[in-house]
Amino acid sequence: MRTHSVGPLLGVHELDEAASLLRRGGLVAFPTETVYGLGADARNPDAIRRLFAAKGRPADNPLIVHVADITDVPGIVREITPLARTLAARWWPGPLTLVLDADPNLPRITTGGHPTVGVRVPDHPVARRLLELAGVPVAAPSANRSGRPSPTTAEHVLADLGDAVDAIVDGGPCVVGLESTVVDARGDVPVVLREGAVTREHLAAADDAPTPDRAASPGTRYRHYAPTCRVEIAEPADVAQRCATLATQGLRVAALLPSDVPSPAGAVLVVRADDAAETATRLYATFHDAEASGADVLVVAAVLEEGLGRAVMDRLRRAST
Ligand code: TXA
Ligand code: MG
Repeated sequence: MRTHSVGPLLGVHELDEAASLLRRGGLVAFPTETVYGLGADARNPDAIRRLFAAKGRPADNPLIVHVADITDVPGIVREITPLARTLAARWWPGPLTLVLDADPNLPRITTGGHPTVGVRVPDHPVARRLLELAGVPVAAPSANRSGRPSPTTAEHVLADLGDAVDAIVDGGPCVVGLESTVVDARGDVPVVLREGAVTREHLAAADDAPTPDRAASPGTRYRHYAPTCRVEIAEPADVAQRCATLATQGLRVAALLPSDVPSPAGAVLVVRADDAAETATRLYATFHDAEASGADVLVVAAVLEEGLGRAVMDRLRRAST
């Protein structure tokens, strides 16, 4: 963990300064357990306008509001439904975003003009301390330019957003590595709008939930999560052959694959991950590293599409199309 500040990078002992920046309408990137977020005071329309501009984010793509505790949710949402209360009791703090009817006083720019708002309590000591110190609800999309992979280190944020932000709190790499599960909690059963680390299996009552509704979670409509190099998905048994074929076409190849698959000959980058959780944790960093390595193509071994594997495959498919 960094303990000094370099340019806009703040060490975790400088959370007072980061909190003060947030209160004054600044843009502060900070770590969560999922990915780094780019925070701004959710109730400050000028700060939120700057946030959308810094990301190049479409104005109709709503932001997730982060709070330190469920007791901070009233005033952001109109009503905490019984379902939301149950899910929050089980999963907060954690990688679960609950979509509820927005409080009429929450600026509509924060909700992308929608009547609902997503809210979550992140499970990261730095994030929660920062939220407590700031004392304001903090809207925080992933701290990347729109369409780019989400950042899982402070360096990713710095490389992608640089001086478009006022500060970056460096809390080291993110543990989960993929964005939170987004669930519509307005009704009687949770409806998954974006897959994440809280899985359908976890949300047992959601077993019969409808297929994710792309129209309902606006962000999932946009091209997303993609590095500048091409991304291909291959079955683990086929990765080596696929890499060899690409290499004969004169392409520089990077690979993310299980450790029992031999390294593809001539690969400019080889990263290992042996299950869905490891793939999730390393996926975005591998996107960034593949770009830096000058690879033309990144081949990623598919994971079993169950549990967290669903979120991994969801992000991979978006990155590869
Ligand atoms: O893990 C995360 O969720 C990270 C960290 C920083 O908390 N944040 C994040 O935010 O991924 P962002 O803005 O990159 O993605 C938010 C997603 C988008 O797909 C957005 O459309 C959806 O959540 N969303 C937010 N509010 C919504 C709402 N009211 N209704 C439906 N979808 C919503
Ligand atoms: Mg994002």
